[in-house]
Amino acid sequence: MVDMVKAGRGLELRPLNLRDAKALFSLVEANRERLRRWLPWPDTNRSVLDTRAFILRVRAHARAGIGQSFGLWWKGALVGTAGFVWIDAANHSAAIGYWLAQEAEGHGLMSAAVKALLRHGFRTLKLNRIEIRVGVRNRRSRAIPERLGFRHEGTLRQAECLAERHVDHAVYGLLASEWRGR
Ligand SMILES: CC(C)(COP(=O)(O)OP(=O)(O)OC[C@H]1O[C@@H](n2cnc3c(N)ncnc32)[C@H](O)[C@@H]1OP(=O)(O)O)[C@@H](O)C(=O)NCCC(=O)NCCS
Repeated sequence: MVDMVKAGRGLELRPLNLRDAKALFSLVEANRERLRRWLPWPDTNRSVLDTRAFILRVRAHARAGIGQSFGLWWKGALVGTAGFVWIDAANHSAAIGYWLAQEAEGHGLMSAAVKALLRHGFRTLKLNRIEIRVGVRNRRSRAIPERLGFRHEGTLRQAECLAERHVDHAVYGLLASEWRGR
């Protein structure tokens, strides 16, 4: 299991652990309505037990090398999660997903976290391609890959059913050869 990833400015990405379950569930509870606009899972995460099951699942994915999710810790508190929602080792390819608590928005934390994940993905995991898929109307989220030099590769029509509506995805991709941090 990978260790902590430092993102600078006091932000740390730590592999999710069962002892984080209560704090993570409280954060989901407090942010449920805004998260369910853009993410598929809040409706199925309704208790600390659900959150524990989620953490066990992502730890198993990390052990199998098919994903890697981190808790985002800032000023001693858990403020969200970010990580590789899937890793396709055969094709050296992965996708990043993320969310932040409302009170942590607007400080550049997620841009810093994704930048750290790019470094980890391209340098340590030796990935060749990293993508981010975002609801086309999710302005704050689209700004992250745009800020970090991803290319907008196209639109997947009605790619995801969120809060009972079908949402188009903007697909952003970044190749190792294009990565500015290399
Ligand atoms: C998507 C989401 C993580 C974006 O959060 P965010 O705080 O806007 O993103 P960042 O942490 O990168 O911060 C960028 C903001 O901080 C500001 N900022 C301050 N210092 C900064 C710095 N050093 N670097 C970059 N941005 C900085 C930026 O100007 C920007 O604010 P603005 O939009 O008012 O201009 C958050 O809105 C969220 O969790 N939404 C709900 C879930 C979701 O949509 N998840 C993604 C699904 S694809």
